[in-house]
Amino acid sequence: MLRLLLAFVLVVMAMGKGCCPPKAWEGFVGTMSGFMKDGKPHSSKGLLMYHTNDTLGMVDSEGDIIIDRLLTLKIRIIKDNNKMIGYNIMNGKCTKKTLVRKELDCIPENATLVRSTYLGAGPETLAVKVYRFMDGDTEVYSTVTSSGCIPLDHVLTGIHPDTKAEFIGVEQVSGITVGVKDPSVFDIPSICPSSGVSSDYVTTMSLWMSSVVLIAKLIV
Ligand SMILES: *[C@@H]1O[C@H](CO)[C@@H](O)[C@H](O)[C@H]1NC(C)=O
Ligand SMILES: *[C@@H]1O[C@H](CO)[C@@H](O)[C@H](O)[C@H]1NC(C)=O
Repeated sequence: MLRLLLAFVLVVMAMGKGCCPPKAWEGFVGTMSGFMKDGKPHSSKGLLMYHTNDTLGMVDSEGDIIIDRLLTLKIRIIKDNNKMIGYNIMNGKCTKKTLVRKELDCIPENATLVRSTYLGAGPETLAVKVYRFMDGDTEVYSTVTSSGCIPLDHVLTGIHPDTKAEFIGVEQVSGITVGVKDPSVFDIPSICPSSGVSSDYVTTMSLWMSSVVLIAKLIV
């Protein structure tokens, strides 16, 4: 069951053509998600440092994820959108998998502009646009700055691409700076397999969980 819980941190940073953020940026991404599994509600929340360079096709996110308010996991996820390979690093172990789909960098062309509005009040406002689009079986509402298409938040509902379970998720982006100060965040750690067959999702997650099995038993 825990591998299902973990899957919910692998959410989408979605953005499309015409409305695209800077090619490279970094910032904090707060995530929250909720879902039902075997008739029981579960939650995950986390704060990740996120780095992306769309020219390289690389995304790195690292930070803490808390599952069911009980279990804190330090994770790092690196995605290579050109090679369609993802690396998951947790508890000193690294696994490699084939990506189900590319991480979107822009709001898709066919997204609906739901509304143009603002955050804040009076003179302290930020003009924003809310877009709606489908990403596979997930409905996404993305709020971005009207000028520059800088991501602010994403609300996701639907079927998770990895687990095929229904879920809701929120991602909030803050502290963004343009560019990536330390390009080595995209280096694949030496503990990661350099070649060979990519492990499938289930193998990845069961490896991740091997050292937290005791806690897992407590919350199942
Ligand atoms: C936009 O296009 C994608 C694929 O090209 C499709 O899956 C989606 O349903 C379309 N509509 C919206 C509103 O996202
Ligand atoms: C992104 O990657 C490209 C290609 O390697 C590189 O030329 C560029 O400097 C990178 N941008 C940042 C901000 O790191």
